[in-house]
Amino acid sequence: MSSAPQHPVDDAGRPWWHDAVIYQVYPRSFADANGDGMGDLAGVTAHLDHLAALGVDAIWLSPFYTSPQSDCGYDVADYLDVDPMFGTLADLDDLVAQAHGRGLRVVVDIVPNHSSSAHRLFQAALTAGPGSPERAMYVFRDGRGERGELPPNAWPGGDDGSAWTRVREADGAWGQWYLHIFGIDQPDWDWTNPAVADMFDDVLRFWLDRGVDGFRIDVAHGMAKEDGLPDRAIAPWEGWVIPTVDPATRPPMWDQDAVHDIHRRWRRVVDEHTAAQRARRTADDPAYDDRILVAEAWLEPERLQLYLRPDELHQAFNPDLLVTPWRADDLVAAITTSLETCAAVGAMPTWVLSNHDIVRHATRLGYAADRPLGGGIGPRDEQPDRELGQRRGRAASLLMMALPGGVYLYEGEELGLPEVTDLPDEARLDYVFLESGGAQVGRDGCRVPIPWRADAPAFGFSPTGRSWLPQPEWFREFAADVQELDPDSTLWLYRRALRLRRDLDLGGPASSVEARDGLVVVTRPASCVVANTTGESVEVAVPAGLAPVLVSLGDAGGVPRVGEDRWAVPGDVTVWFG
Ligand code: NOJ
Repeated sequence: MSSAPQHPVDDAGRPWWHDAVIYQVYPRSFADANGDGMGDLAGVTAHLDHLAALGVDAIWLSPFYTSPQSDCGYDVADYLDVDPMFGTLADLDDLVAQAHGRGLRVVVDIVPNHSSSAHRLFQAALTAGPGSPERAMYVFRDGRGERGELPPNAWPGGDDGSAWTRVREADGAWGQWYLHIFGIDQPDWDWTNPAVADMFDDVLRFWLDRGVDGFRIDVAHGMAKEDGLPDRAIAPWEGWVIPTVDPATRPPMWDQDAVHDIHRRWRRVVDEHTAAQRARRTADDPAYDDRILVAEAWLEPERLQLYLRPDELHQAFNPDLLVTPWRADDLVAAITTSLETCAAVGAMPTWVLSNHDIVRHATRLGYAADRPLGGGIGPRDEQPDRELGQRRGRAASLLMMALPGGVYLYEGEELGLPEVTDLPDEARLDYVFLESGGAQVGRDGCRVPIPWRADAPAFGFSPTGRSWLPQPEWFREFAADVQELDPDSTLWLYRRALRLRRDLDLGGPASSVEARDGLVVVTRPASCVVANTTGESVEVAVPAGLAPVLVSLGDAGGVPRVGEDRWAVPGDVTVWFG
């Protein structure tokens, strides 16, 4: 294994993350080395060659920390250790070293809005009682009503519709309430308490010392709550993106201005660590020292850009492509707004089509453009058009990979993996499903373990055939080893695309992004990318001398030339001209 030094700045003078392709590994579902049916860190390490061959720059690991797994690891009980179900700290060190040896960086998740109720500090807070410094680490309040029997405010959340849960005090009597914006087992930290901020500085330094290349910040728009935790008439919203532009209706638990103090502080921690590491580095050390902070923040572009100011975070997940219908006008409007709002603060946008919270895009796009799919898909729902989803999914992927900025891929999308929409209720484990009593389908369908080998137990996910969520029989046709042999497979499309993206500098600035006759057209001096969002073939003129170099269907011959520099782009297909 050779050591491949990475440079903080690429040939065009851009930091590596400006146009990086970062692959999300959801450790439970990626690969299981020990055969217990649960993915683990050794499984990730064993598949690093797949990721290196794919051509990504980095991986982002969803949480692998000690956790009761009420929210699949987004409920952390110990921020400084690996859960035994995923392995050990030594496994993590090995993974980081082996990834770096292949030129891949490693970004880890950090979950600072809430911990698990099993965290020792939450348990200490329960024991210590009202008014104690232990309670002050979390958001405990007395209830309203004569005997404190009503929650402190009407904030929504939890399984009974309230973001508050009442605890029993040491004497067994009902006592205070604690805040949990997410599940009942996920109590929110009190970030007005300086001890919380100090503790998280140490968490960051612990992982930086172990050599990780950055952090994806879970719920980066949470943490700070409005002073006094007021009730407020909030305009209800549909879907994932939270409307926070108008301060009069901004939800008091989201996107508060005080959250930026936390992000500035974290930026200083990371920059100081990087500077110290640079000072120590010898000339032949690989330069894995340019760490990044990435916000997960479901916000509108006007608010999201604030997280990207020069002294805050390097990147923010951009929810636009997750929520924009497959229609050229909508796509171009969303893309343009993202480019402009990011440029206003000197940042580059990121693009993502799938992740562990959202219906996979190969399925989402198999529905009519306007169907809302936020809550997941179950067997009782209308089922997608699989073929259309595959076709449009590949077209959308090629469009995303041709946009200026960074790209986030979700494990399995390079196989064109669809959502599993027919999981039986008894197999579902997502707390969203369980706490809503099944009213919401939840996110298990995009978390079903990856098929690596068509004819192996659990399709190669685990050596024993065990799998924490059942894999459907049809996963066989999507297995990586089947696709390896098929030059027109989605796997080969992604590999080619990621190589060409570099060659054509498709992560770099574009001269224009326009909508024309149902087409999205992204033009640069030496390339032109055309995504046809209609179901029909559409003719387009491209700059002189360019010809198709990559087609989402897999066959460049399928794009007829219909005149001097005019080409007919088939429906629901993206073509890269170079
Ligand atoms: C966002 C994560 O992506 C999601 O999986 C999790 O449930 C919530 N944050 C709460 O941590």
